Amino acid sequence: MSKKILVLNGPNLNLLGNRENEIYGKETLDQINKWLQKQLKGKAELEFVHSNIEGELVNTLQKADGKFIGVVFNPGAFTHYSIALRDAITAIDIPVVEVHLSNIHSREPFRQKSIIAPVCRGQISGFGKNSYYLGILALLT
Ligand code: DQA
Repeated sequence: MSKKILVLNGPNLNLLGNRENEIYGKETLDQINKWLQKQLKGKAELEFVHSNIEGELVNTLQKADGKFIGVVFNPGAFTHYSIALRDAITAIDIPVVEVHLSNIHSREPFRQKSIIAPVCRGQISGFGKNSYYLGILALLT
């Protein structure tokens, strides 16, 4: 069981459970992470990192290279405008799967464009916490 995967969350995802519940659900990030841990027991070793700060996310992606088999990344609002995060993903050799709780393609026009997705292995959007789960399965298969 040496398949290490980084589950990385960007801005405001620490407020889950207390933030637009009708869009993002009632569960906290900690509850989602514990649920993922339970689902993947014996299949992958998960590490969880959250930051509201773009530069910290860049540092985390850079350090993840070679240490994990891949990254499941919800970049939050940075999805729509962070060239720095896009460049960090391009610079590392491990695959990154972009995930979203909500279906960004059915929301406001400014959310429908991801500048991160084109440099990711793929994007999973709209399945709530299952988006993270499916992203992990994608990296394991
Ligand atoms: C989100 C979608 C983004 O547009 C938004 O800024 C978020 C959450 C999602 O998981 O659905 O913070 O990434």
